[in-house]
Amino acid sequence: MALNLIMLGPPGAGKGTQAERFARTRGIPKISTGDILREAVHTGTEIGKRAHAIMDRGELVGDDVMIGIVKERLDRADASAGFVLDGFPRTVAQATALDAIMNGRDPLIVLDIVVPEAELVRRLASRLICEDCGANAAMMEAAGDAADVVVMPAANPAASETVAAMRAAAEPQRCRRCGGRLVQRSDDNDAIVRERLKVYQRQSEPLVEYYRGRPTFRSINGAQPPDRVAADLTAAIEATDPARTVGTRHRARSGVRS
Ligand code: AP5
Ligand code: MG
Repeated sequence: MALNLIMLGPPGAGKGTQAERFARTRGIPKISTGDILREAVHTGTEIGKRAHAIMDRGELVGDDVMIGIVKERLDRADASAGFVLDGFPRTVAQATALDAIMNGRDPLIVLDIVVPEAELVRRLASRLICEDCGANAAMMEAAGDAADVVVMPAANPAASETVAAMRAAAEPQRCRRCGGRLVQRSDDNDAIVRERLKVYQRQSEPLVEYYRGRPTFRSINGAQPPDRVAADLTAAIEATDPARTVGTRHRARSGVRS
């Protein structure tokens, strides 16, 4: 059965962090509409040009555009064995369209990540992303991405630690994956974060009621360390269908719970 996941939750809830883990550990594509739009802005496509100002005001890009993007992405072959959607749907109109797209496919599993507002504001104020590849600095750290690993002389490990410390001090704001500059996301300043939270309450929170009655809906406490959240998500997925052994299969493969 395909693992068709949706991550719901406000800005900063950890949707991207957890979606990335599922994608990496389960070999399913992560489809993040925020990432797709930021990439479009970065490369200057027509959609990117139109979306840029909307995103920087903390508002939502139009439903028709977003539904078109997601439909095209879900129709690709790599999504047939499952996917994890991060940031879509965000309105009831998007959720209704997604139900139509999913007609004839395995059911959606809807995971709602709940985090208190003060914690969301704190997380977003300190988030850093790479201005070139868009990677989240904390996520790369957790995943152990290390394009800049220092090659150490085996005979003298202490020296390598010194070299690593010197490099870290000299280049404290560089992406571990591609070397790009680490910057604040352009919509993560305090005023825009407040607006995004309001937009979430107004336009996206109704999705919880839209999905709550389904047997495949689960709410998860996201105000815990990322490993704990991941473990709870895995348990929630397994609880939607006892035949699923998400955690077991994953643990057997990599030794890390997700
Ligand atoms: P999008 O990129 O989706 O932003 P968002 O929903 O506001 O969510 P974030 O990416 O800020 O938070 P997240 O939940 O992914 O948290 P993360 O894992 O990064 O959308 C951006 C914009 O694009 C929208 O405002 C809109 O304009 C447009 N858009 C996108 N999709 C759209 C759609 N469908 N329709 C219309 N418009 C759309 O974590 C946040 C931070 O916390 C990170 O630093 C992370 O390291 C840290 N963290 C994560 N988990 C934990 C934890 N458990 N403990 C401590 N820290 C943690
Ligand atoms: Mg995100």
